[in-house]
Amino acid sequence: MKKTIILSMSLLLLSSLQAQEVNSKQEGIKYIKMLGKELKTNLKAHLKADKTGLLAIAFCSQKAKEIEKEVNAKLPEGVSVRRTALKIRNEKNKPDALDLKILNQYQKKADAKTLSPKDIQVVETDKFTRVYKPLLIKPVCLKCHGDVNKISSDIKTVIKKVYPKDMAFGFKEGDLRGVIVSQMKK
Ligand code: HEC
Repeated sequence: MKKTIILSMSLLLLSSLQAQEVNSKQEGIKYIKMLGKELKTNLKAHLKADKTGLLAIAFCSQKAKEIEKEVNAKLPEGVSVRRTALKIRNEKNKPDALDLKILNQYQKKADAKTLSPKDIQVVETDKFTRVYKPLLIKPVCLKCHGDVNKISSDIKTVIKKVYPKDMAFGFKEGDLRGVIVSQMKK
């Protein structure tokens, strides 16, 4: 009898822990989507208005961080969302040690051609939960992150001026460009 009670209690605890993890995963994805959608909508609108991409690069270089700030201002306390990558354009998007660990895992999968944009990773520490979503290069990204010889010279000029240490070029379709990561304090 005692054994059954202990067993069922630990099963209950286990399932509630699992439920918690699913909940924080879903919550984290929600914040990732908020930033992703905001950036995508703006990028699309600017590329539509001017196909050369000049308007879009002017916008991204001036407003990407601002949009990130605006989205973060709408999130509950202790929650944040941002982008980072192994090869960064803006130094303010530099990865930390945990980001690097996940980015390297994703990069390995990308090299083996097994990475899916749906490969969400949840990382628990004693202080916070982080949810990572990989961002893969699509044709539209190549205008600003593709082969340096194919990026228009006008766009290159803007990038050089704003980001003299830019490393975020030379990507091909399907490459891992970076991640969006949300963090929830415990
Ligand atoms: C019009 C040019 C342009 C296009 C198109 C573009 N980007 Fe970027 N991207 C930028 C600029 C500029 C930055 C730096 C923004 C900042 O200051 O935070 C950037 C930054 C990023 C970052 C943040 C990490 C870093 O390097 O600083 C990621 C991730 C990213 N881009 C992914 C993508 C993906 C994925 C696509 C395609 C869906 C894409 N970009 C399309 C210009 C562009």
